[in-house]
Amino acid sequence: MELASSPLSTPTTGGGIPRTASPGSQVLDNGTNIGSASGRKASFGGGALGQNFAMERRGSAESGPARRGSRRGSGVVMTPGGAPVVYHTRTDEDREFPHAEKKTIADLLRKYESLLTLTPQRMRMIVHAIEETLDKGLQKDGQIVPMIPTFVFGWPTGEEVGEYLALDLGGTNLRVCLVDLQGHGKFEVTQTKYRLTEEQKQEDGQKLLDFCAECLDNFITNTLGRTENDPMLPLGFTFSYPCSQLRIDHGELIRWTKGFGAPNIEGHDVAAMFASSLKRLNVNAELTALINDTTGTLIASNYVDPNTKIAVIFGTGCNAAYMETAGNIPKMSSVGLEADQGMAINCEWGAFDSFDHQHLPRTKYDIIIDESSNKPGEQSFEKMIAGLYLGEVFRLILCELIDSGDLFLGQNTYKLEKAYAFDTAFLSLMESDPTDELLTIIGVFSHFFGIETTLEERQFFRQLAVLIGTRAARLSACGIAAIVSKKGYLEKGCAVGADGSLYNKYPNFANRVHAALVDIFGEKGKRIVTHHAEDGSGVGSAIIAAMTKARKEKGFYVDY
Ligand code: GLC
Repeated sequence: MELASSPLSTPTTGGGIPRTASPGSQVLDNGTNIGSASGRKASFGGGALGQNFAMERRGSAESGPARRGSRRGSGVVMTPGGAPVVYHTRTDEDREFPHAEKKTIADLLRKYESLLTLTPQRMRMIVHAIEETLDKGLQKDGQIVPMIPTFVFGWPTGEEVGEYLALDLGGTNLRVCLVDLQGHGKFEVTQTKYRLTEEQKQEDGQKLLDFCAECLDNFITNTLGRTENDPMLPLGFTFSYPCSQLRIDHGELIRWTKGFGAPNIEGHDVAAMFASSLKRLNVNAELTALINDTTGTLIASNYVDPNTKIAVIFGTGCNAAYMETAGNIPKMSSVGLEADQGMAINCEWGAFDSFDHQHLPRTKYDIIIDESSNKPGEQSFEKMIAGLYLGEVFRLILCELIDSGDLFLGQNTYKLEKAYAFDTAFLSLMESDPTDELLTIIGVFSHFFGIETTLEERQFFRQLAVLIGTRAARLSACGIAAIVSKKGYLEKGCAVGADGSLYNKYPNFANRVHAALVDIFGEKGKRIVTHHAEDGSGVGSAIIAAMTKARKEKGFYVDY
């Protein structure tokens, strides 16, 4: 079968997967993976709309030389046929490139510090508002933060065993794994990753799922060497978008997040659509469970460390899951579960403060990101935290300073003016630059954007990255604190399994979350400790498939 995209062929070097779960567990890799989160391309997300914004902005800057003090190096004119033509100029060919002055930089830093800093008091207010919102989501269906019951009933025993397929459609790649659960918290993983193109994220929903089924088939046949005569393997499908579930193998996509926009799938049962792709393409696998990455992470982390009570993904998107008891989920009361029956909840907290925008201190950059996205008004919390957006906040601030004439006078800045051109991975790089001269930052600006920088500017950029990264970490801590407070975990403390490119690769992200928890709760905040989670969408999904199988065998199968 020919695949629309070929498997990625760089050996895994990081990205958190695959990895060793616990002493004695082993991960096998067939060598066709990448581990880098930087595969996400700049134009992701806001896409065409984002670019429109950049064009308009250029247009307005250009509506004058009239714009006094503007020392832009580039602009756009429209041809009579309506096509935009970008031009680049230098204001003074003979002068050295003028750069921002020290005093200006100090003033700017103060300004952005006050815009992007969250005080402990402000954080406590946000925690309170999130907690209320989580409660509302458990009360009634159809709330903005949907608090989705996942039909994952309680914690794993750690003794789940067997071979399971796991398919993971996240924000950037498609991953296919065979997970061999060996009990005692041990497992082996064999996996392949496929890169998703921007087109695939926007093309017809069934076509996207057909592609997933083709990749799975390719993996089963070519990597595992299995044939039609081999027994059908159970499959856990990690589909990391908000889906309301009526049972474990059902999930109606509420809305796309993370820049996806494939039509004809929102409002539909993704599990049924995927099962039809498997059938049509004759794939030797049986869909057993549809799960969210946070739920998988919760279960996988608890499998190896039972002290883990909450899981959070800080990646392209941001979301959390935790274990609730049925008695605390009024909207499910008609199902008649025992009050103390555990039920994992996929919070979808990325939607907190959507539409109303009453609680989060959004800056004008957050508003631009929101309004130029393919889902204006939605995922407000996520848009201030997640990896998909942080680089764009930085870029928008730089564009503002180019417009005001404070930065890059006379240089050609058009590359930087493209929406989403500044990847969040660049912020990580800038923050971790070990050299006095900040050579990595020189490299980022000259290599990717053709822009020269002074040491003072680079120091400023690094500080700006710290401010943006710290704000994201502190907001994330507010979400964690809301669950901790709701569940009363502060006294005993608990572990929080965390995964995703931001958590794994952004320097100091975890330390900043921990410091914020102390700001919120005082010294007791030290009892809440995040740690690098187990592979939720692979191993977690397999454990959930195993738990589901065991439940069904006992005749415990619940429909909403
Ligand atoms: C987005 C998705 C959510 C997912 C998160 C992390 O918020 O809506 O389902 O868990 O990203 O991948």
